[in-house]
Amino acid sequence: MKKLEEYVRSIPDFPEPGIIFRDVTSILQDADGLHLAVDSLIRMLDGLDYDVVVGPESRGFIFGVPVAYAQHKSFVPVRKKGKLPCETISMDYDLEYGKATIEIHKDAIKPGQKVVIVDDLIATGGTTEAIIKLIEQLGGTVVKICFVMELAGLNGRAHLQGYDVDSAIIYEGK
Ligand code: PRP
Ligand code: MG
Repeated sequence: MKKLEEYVRSIPDFPEPGIIFRDVTSILQDADGLHLAVDSLIRMLDGLDYDVVVGPESRGFIFGVPVAYAQHKSFVPVRKKGKLPCETISMDYDLEYGKATIEIHKDAIKPGQKVVIVDDLIATGGTTEAIIKLIEQLGGTVVKICFVMELAGLNGRAHLQGYDVDSAIIYEGK
């Protein structure tokens, strides 16, 4: 069986010159790749006491839900602005170009709940930092943050100091 990293298709100069895009769809479109990715996330949570998985739209849904399902935990979506129907809190964060806003339902996390964040990728860390703020504003505690891939050259972990962060694949570059 191939290793997880062998299922990641790397596309040079996408979305712009000089950037190597790490494509998660090539993991998903192979049954073994999908198993390896989800299993590697589940292994990061071995023995951990937690209540809920939080995953951001949209690629965080792909990996967060199977992890929550396999461990019989609930799943809370963090969505892009304007998608959630009930009362929300929101957080602005920086993208490489411009800004974005994400939201979570106010009643989605109960005070004292232990939360695991799952996403496909950490790049600058801006998305995850915003998710942490939302969870903590609702009284939750982030006990673990799991990624399939990390672009270490962008130093996203600098935004996540003091948190337990794990990535299945670490790329040294950007
Ligand atoms: C991508 C990726 C992570 C985030 C990482 O999501 O899925 O969520 O960027 O980048 P950062 O560490 O610099 O914040 P994107 O916002 O492109 O949306 P998508 O998941 O809907 O594709
Ligand atoms: Mg995303």
